[in-house]
Amino acid sequence: MTIKRLGIVGSGIMGSGIAEVAARSGHEVILRSRQQETADAMLAGMEKSLAKQVERGKLTAEEQADAVSRVTVTTDLGDLAECDLVIESIVEDLHAKRHLFNELDRICGEDTILATNTSTLPVIEMAMETGRPERVCGLHFFNPAPAMPLVEIVRPLIASDDTMAEVRAFAEACGKSPVEVKDRAGFIVNALLFPYLNNAVRLLESGVASKEDIDAAMKGGCGFPMGPFALLDLVGLDTSLSILEALYEEFKDSNYAPVPLLRRMVTAELLGRKTKRGFYDYHK
Ligand code: 3HC
Repeated sequence: MTIKRLGIVGSGIMGSGIAEVAARSGHEVILRSRQQETADAMLAGMEKSLAKQVERGKLTAEEQADAVSRVTVTTDLGDLAECDLVIESIVEDLHAKRHLFNELDRICGEDTILATNTSTLPVIEMAMETGRPERVCGLHFFNPAPAMPLVEIVRPLIASDDTMAEVRAFAEACGKSPVEVKDRAGFIVNALLFPYLNNAVRLLESGVASKEDIDAAMKGGCGFPMGPFALLDLVGLDTSLSILEALYEEFKDSNYAPVPLLRRMVTAELLGRKTKRGFYDYHK
């Protein structure tokens, strides 16, 4: 089956980024948000992001208009019934995701592939909430989705080869470079990235260097495009904390135990770019 119609549940930064990627590459996209206002804001944000690409000469105004015309938003999950693939990108909460998979299983046609953009949670737990566990997998995009080439395709123990092949073809049609990985917390990227980010917070907390110097060191010394604190602010400190907690829960490795400063900053709602303040200030 070729995936033509994509459903996305969740209109946060990842949901809207995936919608943009898929619409740009010619897919019809139906985005479900619980509230009309968030759905409308997401569409406006996507138009702005595409307009930036037009300014940069990466896209013509006509391609921008075509991409926008391929996206519809809804508050009704039932509108996703005819989709070939549904990707959920809601809150990183296993209970909420299991509930959603159960609902999607009842709503969607029997051939629809149900995928999760989870960073760390066990995909098999979502698959087992459905009557089609062989049609469930992980499809993990990176932030910002329009710019990052990687997609991790996560294979739960009982996913079918057809499901994996169809999802891989979809990722490639979106211009992405997929890798396949087993269903283990953190998959490849976050299993390696988050001990590094967590240890950067530890280094800051122990007063070894300033956040500016740690960021400058990792950019200048390792060629990373962003330092760890700029990246934590981009990903979101709340998301980062929940990723570390899920990794710790799975492996009980102290490298994954969230550093207290990170937890305190989340409690203080210093979440990064989304709240305009995290390790850095984004008010201007
Ligand atoms: N949409 C489309 N394209 C974008 C974009 C966006 N939102 N943001 C940047 N780009 C493109 C630009 O068009 C530009 O393309 P070009 O090189 O072909 O001209 C290129 O990316 C570089 O952009 P800029 O010059 O504007 O800015 P930077 O050079 O500072 O790059 C960045 C911005 C791409 C975000 C870069 O800093 C970067 O790669 N940072 C690392 C991001 C990262 O590591 N993400 C992974 C996070 S972990 C994750 O997502 C997992 C999750 O589970 C938590």
